Amino acid sequence: MLIIGCSNSRALAKKVAEQLGASFSSLEAKHFPDGELYLRFLADVRGKDVVLVQSMQPNPTEALIEAIFAAETARELGAKRVGLVAPYLCYMRQDTRFKPGECVSSRIVAKLLRCVDFLITVDPHLHRYRSLGVVFSVNTMKITANGLLAAYIKEKIKNPVIVGPDWESYQWAEEIAKQCGAPVTVMEKKRYSSRHVEVKLKNDVSIAGKSVVLVDDIISTGHTLIEAMKALKGHKPRAFYCLGVHGLFAEGALGKLKRAGVRTIVSTDTIQNPTARISVAKLLAEALESHTKVFK
Ligand code: R5P
Repeated sequence: MLIIGCSNSRALAKKVAEQLGASFSSLEAKHFPDGELYLRFLADVRGKDVVLVQSMQPNPTEALIEAIFAAETARELGAKRVGLVAPYLCYMRQDTRFKPGECVSSRIVAKLLRCVDFLITVDPHLHRYRSLGVVFSVNTMKITANGLLAAYIKEKIKNPVIVGPDWESYQWAEEIAKQCGAPVTVMEKKRYSSRHVEVKLKNDVSIAGKSVVLVDDIISTGHTLIEAMKALKGHKPRAFYCLGVHGLFAEGALGKLKRAGVRTIVSTDTIQNPTARISVAKLLAEALESHTKVFK
C-alpha cells in the first residue's frame, strides 16, 4: 500500500503510513501563474493500492478538486486501486434544498467522488442522511473519534458535564458521556443564518461548579458554541471546555471563542490547526487495514 499525503494532510498521512508500516510519498501540488492547480506524483504508483489522504479543509473546493485530479491521475498511471481517506469530508451540511433553487452540494460531491474505489472518513456530518451509503455509490467507511474525545475528557477534565449544543450533536454528546460516565444534556438551537444562531438549555441538568464540556462534530464560525456558553453562564459552571472533532475555525472563530471565556479548546487532527491535540492516525490506519482486507 502506498500512502499519498495531499496538500491538506501531509503530516497526518505520514503518521498513518508509519502506523501501517507502509510507504509514504507527498503529492507535489502547486499553482500555475493563473491559479490553476498543478499536481505530480513523486512515487511510482503502477500496480499499487494507492491511498490518497486529503482533508477537505481548508479551501474545501480546491481540496476536493485536488483529490479528484489525483485519483484520476493515479489510475492513468496504472494504480491497482485508489482509495481516498478524507478525514474531514466537506459540503455534507448542505444535505437538502433549504430554499428553492439551492444546490444540494453533498449529493454532487458524492457523485464526483465516484472516481475512487473507497472512501474512509471521520464523523461525517450525517443529519438528514441515515448513512453515507444513501448518497455515495462507492464503498464507504465512517469511523468515529468519540472514543478519543472521551479518553481526553477522562484524563484531563475533572467533574465534567457533557453538553451537546444542538439536537444534531446528540450522537457525539451521548456516546461520549456514556464512555466517560458523565451526565449529559443536549441543548436546543435555532439557526437563522450561517452566522446567527440561538441556543437554549432545555432541562435543569446540574451545571453549578461543574466543568461544562461542549462537544460538537464541527466548530466552524464558533457561534453555536459561543451562544451555548452565553446561555449556560448564569448556571455558574466552574469552566467551559470546547471539544470538536473537526476544527474549521472560520472567520477568526478561535479568537472569538477565547474571548467568550472558554478555558480550553481541543480538536482532532482531521484538520491541521493549533488546537489539534488528538490524533486520528491510529484509527485511520486500523480502518485502512480492515477496509483493504474486506474489499480485496
Ligand atoms: C451543525 O449542526 C454542526 O453540527 C455544528 O453545530 C455547526 O456546523 C457549527 O457551526 P458554527 O461553529 O458556525 O456555529
